[in-house]
Amino acid sequence: MRTARNGFSGIISPDEPPLWLRALSFGNENFVTQATIPLMFIKHLCIFGENNSTIAVIRSCYSTIRKRTEKLCEPLHTEDYVPQPVAYASPPKWHLAHTSWFFEEMILKHYLPGYKAFDPDFGFLFNSYYNAVGTRTFRADRGNITRPGVREVYTYRQHVDRHMLELLQDDEPDRKVHDLVILGLNHEQQHQELLVTDFKYALGHNPTFPVYHESANWIGQHNTQTGWLSIPEGLYTIGHKNDGFCFDNECNAHQVFLNDFEMSKALVTNSEYLAFMEDGGYDHFGWWLDEGWEWIRKEGIRSPMYWHRIDGEWHCFTLAGLQKIDPDAILAHISYYEANAFATWKGMRLPTEFEWEAASSELPWGVRWEWTNSAYLPYPGFKIAAGAVGEYNGKFMMNQMVLRGASAVTAVGHSRTTYRNFFHPQYQWQYSGIRLAK
Ligand SMILES: [Fe+2]
Repeated sequence: MRTARNGFSGIISPDEPPLWLRALSFGNENFVTQATIPLMFIKHLCIFGENNSTIAVIRSCYSTIRKRTEKLCEPLHTEDYVPQPVAYASPPKWHLAHTSWFFEEMILKHYLPGYKAFDPDFGFLFNSYYNAVGTRTFRADRGNITRPGVREVYTYRQHVDRHMLELLQDDEPDRKVHDLVILGLNHEQQHQELLVTDFKYALGHNPTFPVYHESANWIGQHNTQTGWLSIPEGLYTIGHKNDGFCFDNECNAHQVFLNDFEMSKALVTNSEYLAFMEDGGYDHFGWWLDEGWEWIRKEGIRSPMYWHRIDGEWHCFTLAGLQKIDPDAILAHISYYEANAFATWKGMRLPTEFEWEAASSELPWGVRWEWTNSAYLPYPGFKIAAGAVGEYNGKFMMNQMVLRGASAVTAVGHSRTTYRNFFHPQYQWQYSGIRLAK
């Protein structure tokens, strides 16, 4: 029997630099110049496992992770913090406030005696989707919250941090507090990635294509391996098995029988996807799922997100500005519908999330979220936790597809081989890519 590996992996490849160096890099494209990389790009390494999640580690990770969120915002202009060009891309100011709201609402109000909320309105303004906590701003209205201003939201963060660190002075906090802080930090890391994808959407839909930072291309990675990995049929253990942190949707570990399959060691590149486009990829219904075909026709989709045909040449918007497409770079910003159509055109398919996990220890991964052919569903024995945190994952287990791995903008140490990301099939704005199976 073959068992998928658990625990931290990040980008796994013998060709990659060691972990400590990766922790000081961004993406995987420029390892030699890490000394010149601005602090905001440092992917702080905070892993919560059975041996290192002492309160001292958590206290240190709390400060590090919270600081990184703010560092990511440093290149933004004040005006960038507010707009919400589409309902699914929240404004930076909202992310900054909502991540603080999580600590205030889930922890401080319940576990720090005498805690006084920073502002009674914030509970309503910055609740995302927790019905148990109360009413909230309609999601599509997050960009309409021009007040509080950016400065006040930063003051809110300081208020929450001061009180959280006060709570974390206790060397032996309540086990529930301990677990909630770890959840809150993982939540913050998830929002760090959403923050980047969301402000990329806003800047990428600005007619002048503003540069966020000249070093922030983040989609320029090339494959480090080629060929196919053969995995024999058998029973595989899927799901989280060790004592380290995981989200509830990774439980329970269970066995899945897989037939023989092969998995590409490389992710699909821009040139491979261009070949699909040039072969009429967006013009032939036979390669598309019916919903996907409807989607491209209704929305006028003719390419991955951020691609622009200028003077006969394909360009794409990166956070370092508009650039010519690098044919050998790994494709990014692709929907499930497009990933599935591409695989059908190639006469292949996307892997299931179980195949991905079974093969993951032998695959280089970590630069794109990889669409799988698996619907986001509960594992056997999945239980919804009591209280508001029970709304974290379980209620979204419908009409979404699972993505595995991590992306170049995922905080290092945040993902693992059992991690289940999930999005609706039409979304292109994440750093998503394609790995083929057959
Ligand atoms: Fe959230």
